[in-house]
Amino acid sequence: MKRWGLPARLDDLKRQQLYRTRQVVSSPQGARVVIDGESFNNFSSNDYLGLANHPEVIVAFQKAASEYGVGSGSAHLICGHSSEHHALEEELAEFTGRERALVFSTGYMANMGVISALVTKGDEILQDKLNHASLIDGARLSGAGLKRYSHNDLERLQQLLHQSSSEKKLIITDGVFSMDGDEADVKRLASLAAEHGAALMVDDAHGVGVLGETGAGLLETYGLTQQQVPILMATLGKGLGTAGAFVAGSEALIETLIQRARTYVFTTAMPPAIMAATRVSLKLCQQESWRREKLESLVSRFRQGAHQLGLNLMPSQTPIQPVVLGSNEAVVSAASFLKAKGFLVGAIRHPTVAKSSERLRITLSATHTESQVDSLLAALDGAMRD
Ligand SMILES: Cc1ncc(COP(=O)(O)O)c(C=O)c1O
Repeated sequence: MKRWGLPARLDDLKRQQLYRTRQVVSSPQGARVVIDGESFNNFSSNDYLGLANHPEVIVAFQKAASEYGVGSGSAHLICGHSSEHHALEEELAEFTGRERALVFSTGYMANMGVISALVTKGDEILQDKLNHASLIDGARLSGAGLKRYSHNDLERLQQLLHQSSSEKKLIITDGVFSMDGDEADVKRLASLAAEHGAALMVDDAHGVGVLGETGAGLLETYGLTQQQVPILMATLGKGLGTAGAFVAGSEALIETLIQRARTYVFTTAMPPAIMAATRVSLKLCQQESWRREKLESLVSRFRQGAHQLGLNLMPSQTPIQPVVLGSNEAVVSAASFLKAKGFLVGAIRHPTVAKSSERLRITLSATHTESQVDSLLAALDGAMRD
């Protein structure tokens, strides 16, 4: 590989402040995490409800590991589909008000699998420009035509739908946008889809657990049915605190995915213990609405405080609260300042977000205290003055 010039390419990334490194965590996820022996206030995780380290979830995981062992042994269609996978799928279908649900090993795989199973050359995909990378990659893999409309620009989407001559049109959107924290106008998207005979797919990875009365996400908030949004995808590793993802929809959709989604068919099923743990976290998510209420109040507290400090907030009402700083250098320097003060926040750079919109991605969790939020605000004030 000598001629590939890898070291020079890596140096280039370093020069542009785009080099990514991993931090080795030696504690459970939570409002505080330990990295290199040092404890930090964690404002960078997607464990929004604080279920990743919940004692009941851990016990369910341990109990299922004793009962089923660790590995699933094979793909779902061979002998890896355990009664825990099956039960979770039934519970997820009920949770989301859909006929059926299908569990995938990751959200990335779910999106790649679903899109490439449903559309192909000659079909058309219309996506929001800020959709998650896995939705863009799934569209590319499918071979269908891909048009991307500016973020939440539904006038433009309408034009594209008018212009399209494809028989099969698939509109895809994030429910809650992962780097901005704002929501798609799913109600209007559902009407546009119906008007133009298109199918609508919503990736609600950051909405499930957090939004809706029982935590079933953005579609629950607006009461959107399976008929209005036939393809719902969400992840288990964020609000629900475990790992994996699911797709929910009609019987025919799920059976099609079982036959045709290559990232479902050609991969080892998740360990049954993860499914058992998720069944408990799903119950906690539904029953403990105080977690969503607490999150909501922490979000308002943070936004109010940040507004008073004159921080450049985005119009997000969700636990994803970006502070735009506008350059790679500025976010890297602010994130290191905050780390030195004991706060962990995401430094999101180009190309994950557009140039000049580089940002700190601050995420709140139901396990944060008000005083943690207040001290983060004080540290942010310091970072801006630094
Ligand atoms: C909107 C969205 N979709 C899909 C994914 C991928 O999910 P997973 O991490 O389970 O692969 C993510 C983030 O990870 C996401 O933010």
